[in-house]
Amino acid sequence: MDLELKNKVALVTASSKGLGKAVAFELAREGAKVVICARDKNTLEKTAEEIRNATGTEVLSVVTDLTKAEDIKNLVKDTITKFARIDILFTNAGGPPPGQFMEFNDEDWKNAFELNLLSVVRLCKEVIPYMQRQGGGRIIHSTSISVKQPLENLVLSNSLRAGVIGLSKTLANELGPDNILVNAVCPGATATERLENLVKARVEREGISEEDAKRGWTDAIPLGRLGTPEEFANLVVFLASEKASNITGTAIQVDGGFYKGIL
Ligand SMILES: NC(=O)c1ccc[n+]([C@@H]2O[C@H](COP(=O)([O-])OP(=O)(O)OC[C@H]3O[C@@H](n4cnc5c(N)ncnc54)[C@H](OP(=O)(O)O)[C@@H]3O)[C@@H](O)[C@H]2O)c1
Repeated sequence: MDLELKNKVALVTASSKGLGKAVAFELAREGAKVVICARDKNTLEKTAEEIRNATGTEVLSVVTDLTKAEDIKNLVKDTITKFARIDILFTNAGGPPPGQFMEFNDEDWKNAFELNLLSVVRLCKEVIPYMQRQGGGRIIHSTSISVKQPLENLVLSNSLRAGVIGLSKTLANELGPDNILVNAVCPGATATERLENLVKARVEREGISEEDAKRGWTDAIPLGRLGTPEEFANLVVFLASEKASNITGTAIQVDGGFYKGIL
């Protein structure tokens, strides 16, 4: 299947590692030009080089802290300066800290809001006018399986990501006439550094072994294993492609069957 992604310009945020990196990689393999960002310059540049060497595509890396409005403006400005358009926006950021409701104060909630909801709002505000002028585009919001089934000890994630789904569905309705398709993807437990950190937090909190903490995730997954970042990225690539031209306003999980609801 030709996904018709060659020479499309994709802005993929929080992408020096984990899910974002896998999405940038798989889009690049399909011939898209990719813009990647993260806070740590060294890791970011290493990832950019890795993608260039493996795919031969153009990669722009922009050091960005997604909690800063100015950084987001610069990220989009640099993308336009380099590539003159943005066809695909994949919104993603680091995860908020794990913990239970009574552990967090107002500051924690504000930080999680800035990282996981306001950053998405700001990215969309900056990018949508370009997509409107170009005659269309794709926006894919990365959230979490927690939007369908709240996860234990992750109250900040459970709460803020639901807001992203509300935004995503609203944008799908508002931007359909502009030929901008908006979808959300909901990763389940996927083998990345973030998941390793969640496992460590559980080991410390519950005094259990690392193996038992991991089993806490995999036992609830019918496929009996963690997902890979590439498996997640494959769905994003499809949604970004011309083959997904009638799909907008959805929220699709990639979770090995973890989610137990019917729809
Ligand atoms: N892995 C899973 O199982 C899973 C499941 C559901 C949802 N999620 C969510 O998906 C997102 C990505 O997870 P992951 O597993 O890919 O995490 P990861 O492996 O820890 O990678 C996170 C990436 O985000 C970047 N980042 C973090 N904070 C940032 C900021 N303020 N500004 C710019 N970049 C930032 C990191 O680079 P720097 O640190 O250098 O900035 C890194 O490139 C998180 O929100 C996570 O909660 C993950």
